[in-house]
Amino acid sequence: MNELEIITHTTEETMRLAEELAQLVRPGDVITLEGDLGAGKTTFTKGLGSGLGVTRTINSPTYTIVKEYRGELPLYHMDVYRLEDSDEDIGFDEYFHSDGISVVEWASFIEAFLPEKRLDIVIRAVDEHTRKITFYPRGDSFEKICEELAR
Ligand SMILES: Nc1ncnc2c1ncn2[C@@H]1O[C@H](COP(=O)(O)OP(=O)(O)OP(=O)(O)O)[C@@H](O)[C@H]1O
Ligand SMILES: [Mg+2]
Repeated sequence: MNELEIITHTTEETMRLAEELAQLVRPGDVITLEGDLGAGKTTFTKGLGSGLGVTRTINSPTYTIVKEYRGELPLYHMDVYRLEDSDEDIGFDEYFHSDGISVVEWASFIEAFLPEKRLDIVIRAVDEHTRKITFYPRGDSFEKICEELAR
């Protein structure tokens, strides 16, 4: 499978989709999220957290770049928007090679630090409440995950 496209019609639907993804990921997996301001990247991350059993409220890590949450697996939520045009390495490898799940909003800004094997997700706003969510698996294990998600 090269890519998987899913349309959601509500915020809750996007969160449920992310909750399903949370049941399929494994320690050390890296998920990237691209999409314009307000597309739903943080909303998707909230769903992932909920699916991973995170009870704390997940919100945009705008000031900290990385926020860590405890669930069944640790969740590392990064928003690297502020690293545009910088080559700053804030220790990405430690997160990407950890036993946690890393989720990176605006991941293209740190392209050089991203592992080859990962799940890229692009969210596009079609209208006020409709989102086109496209999954691009990079590597066999993520292809399997997308096949499961497609069911
Ligand atoms: N189908 C949908 N899926 C996701 N979010 C939706 C949907 N319909 C409406 N929304 C709304 O769109 C907004 C998405 O905001 P969110 O903070 O998740 O975006 P973001 O991509 O993280 O933005 P930013 O680039 O500012 O971090 C929320 O207010 C959410 O309720
Ligand atoms: Mg966000």
